[in-house]
Amino acid sequence: MLFMFLRLQGGRLVLGQDGWSVTYTKNSICALKGSTVDLSCSYTYPRGHTVTTTTWNKWKSLTWTQIPDKYEDRIEYRGNKENDYLRLNDSAGYRFRFITSGGKFAGSPVSLTVTVSPSGERVEGSSVTLTCSSDANPPVDKYTWYKKNGGGYQSMTGPQHVFNQIQSSDSGEYYCESQNEMGTDRSRTINMDVKYGPKNTSVSVSPSGEIVEGSSVTLTCSSDANPDVDKYTWYKKNRASLTGSEKTYNFTTIRSEDSGEYYCGTENKYGRLNSSSVSVDVQC
Ligand SMILES: *[C@@H]1O[C@H](CO)[C@@H](O)[C@H](O)[C@H]1NC(C)=O
Ligand SMILES: *[C@@H]1O[C@H](CO)[C@@H](O)[C@H](O)[C@H]1NC(C)=O
Ligand SMILES: *[C@@H]1O[C@H](CO)[C@@H](O)[C@H](O)[C@H]1NC(C)=O
Ligand SMILES: *[C@@H]1O[C@H](CO)[C@@H](O)[C@H](O)[C@H]1NC(C)=O
Repeated sequence: MLFMFLRLQGGRLVLGQDGWSVTYTKNSICALKGSTVDLSCSYTYPRGHTVTTTTWNKWKSLTWTQIPDKYEDRIEYRGNKENDYLRLNDSAGYRFRFITSGGKFAGSPVSLTVTVSPSGERVEGSSVTLTCSSDANPPVDKYTWYKKNGGGYQSMTGPQHVFNQIQSSDSGEYYCESQNEMGTDRSRTINMDVKYGPKNTSVSVSPSGEIVEGSSVTLTCSSDANPDVDKYTWYKKNRASLTGSEKTYNFTTIRSEDSGEYYCGTENKYGRLNSSSVSVDVQC
């Protein structure tokens, strides 16, 4: 009696990343020559890929050659794309190969959803929650939020980032990243624009230095506000309010009676703030 002996290359092959493998039920088969044996294997690949080709290769004339027609009788599918087998009657080395298309998140399209709640405007001092979610398959193992910080990014782990009392310094660009065994994906960028009333309102006098009667002098009211100050008011201590309602208050020809303490008031939708006063002392 003659026997045939088959060797299968590989056993279990793990290629690169986790999730890729080919497993033969047996690494070698010994059978009566002329009889038929089934060579089977199963393979796994990460979700998101689609198998496009499966082939069996045979070790012949010192080289691996693809068995020409996989739809020949001797190759039959079990209907299950994750199992494949070859029916054969000769003795050789065999190797199975499969090719997939797709890749990261393909097949089942996945998008990262980012929400900012409450919706609408973010006002300093209010509570704001950034949430990142995904329908990734396999599920997301890790979420990370990033905030643009100068040239770099500051990271915060977790799907949610809560600001109990949001500050103007929390303004900026945020995005989230999810990670699963397939890799990472990045969300769209959220532009956090924290609104606040005027801060640090001050008056400056130009030109600086001694003010001579008859010269031209400009007072400028500066403030940090978001949105910008939409209303300025000018005050002179111990006087009724002045008529100016611009960021600057001009004296084209300043008089000695213009001497005094000046300050400005700033206002936007979110608040009001007066500056401290500056002294204008006109020399005759
Ligand atoms: C082996 O299989 C091939 C293809 O089906 C066939 O042509 C051949 O006759 C078979 N050989 C034996 C010894 O059964
Ligand atoms: C307040 O404004 C002045 C003038 O614009 C500026 O020099 C100063 O740094 C500001 N201070 C703060 C705390 O923002
Ligand atoms: C004050 O003078 C400056 C500089 O000439 C000018 O830009 C500004 O508009 C003037 N402000 C007012 C309220 O007229
Ligand atoms: C600013 O000053 C004016 C005049 O002194 C006063 O009526 C007003 O209440 C002040 N505003 C704030 C926000 O302090």
